[in-house]
Amino acid sequence: MEYKELAKIAVGAKSNAIPSYSKFKVGAALLSEDGKIFTGGNIESSSYSLTICAERVALFKALSEGERKFKAIAIASDAPDFCPPCGACRQVLNDFCEDIDIILINHKSELKIFKLNELLPFPFGDANLK
Ligand code: THU
Repeated sequence: MEYKELAKIAVGAKSNAIPSYSKFKVGAALLSEDGKIFTGGNIESSSYSLTICAERVALFKALSEGERKFKAIAIASDAPDFCPPCGACRQVLNDFCEDIDIILINHKSELKIFKLNELLPFPFGDANLK
């Protein structure tokens, strides 16, 4: 799958976001190694800190469906600039996705592509627990 197409799916996934308090919609589209796509939108709780980002919604949906190998995740918001994944999402992506490609899309449909290890150098991981 073309990353441009995955990015468009992330844009579409914003429509199911529930950003009741921030009003900041984020959409994510996660591509598995075997070509399946899992989407997510951010979901906010009235107890604000229980909010979950779009990226983790997509990833947890995929994991709970048995998917374990991932190639890329695309992320979109309504802000003019690119929306990079927050620190918590970088950690969880590192825990489950190895060095996944992270595709950001802005409002002009331009893409910026990173490797997770560029955004999260020297990560903490399961190896540190041994
Ligand atoms: N948000 C995401 O969904 N993904 C990110 O990577 C950045 C932040 C959400 C969380 C919250 O619902 C809203 O954006 C504002 O922080």
